[in-house]
Amino acid sequence: MQHFTKVDHPLVQHKLTKMREVKASTAKFRMLLRELSHLLAYEITRDLPMTTATIDTPLEQMDSPVLKGKKLALVSILRAGNGLLDGVLELIPSARVGFVGLYRDEETLEPVQYYFKVPKDMAQRVVIAVDPMLATGNSAVAAIDLLKKSGATDIRFLCLLAAPEGVARMKEAHPDVPIVSAALDRELSDIGYILPGLGDAGDRMFGTK
Ligand code: URA
Repeated sequence: MQHFTKVDHPLVQHKLTKMREVKASTAKFRMLLRELSHLLAYEITRDLPMTTATIDTPLEQMDSPVLKGKKLALVSILRAGNGLLDGVLELIPSARVGFVGLYRDEETLEPVQYYFKVPKDMAQRVVIAVDPMLATGNSAVAAIDLLKKSGATDIRFLCLLAAPEGVARMKEAHPDVPIVSAALDRELSDIGYILPGLGDAGDRMFGTK
């Protein structure tokens, strides 16, 4: 997988445009996020290892492709990560789930950890970290640092929007972690918002503003 993949499928792009619009209600925003998370999950799991199983169709026996069964862990970077998590879990219901709680200090823009709970056997799992917004990259880098400390070696990062600054920061700190995103926006504002962006993803999905 390359370091940064933009999913430019027409459905993804159309739904993302609808989400960006300031007039989208909380309910609409959530619904679109859920739909988009299915489509993005499809892309981030594209290279999962496969094997074959011998099955009987109504007509004959065949060797048919199935997932090799490598264990998965989805890790939500709280709180906005939960908006992506639900949809990805619907597609991969047997995945284990972890949470990393980080908030952004509004003055320094640096991440502050307040929660960390992941499955025990992270070294054996394909880990998909989810956070809709890859902005400065500070939270993403800190979360991946923690996941690596917990033993994870095969990690991917799934987001909705990325800023060039965040992608560069991730490439520098974690070049082994591929990023899948629906868009690469222009830049960060001076207070760390992605431009043109969609505003505060957490506030928009939970209706807290
Ligand atoms: N987090 C958000 O929710 N939005 C941004 O634009 C940047 C970080």
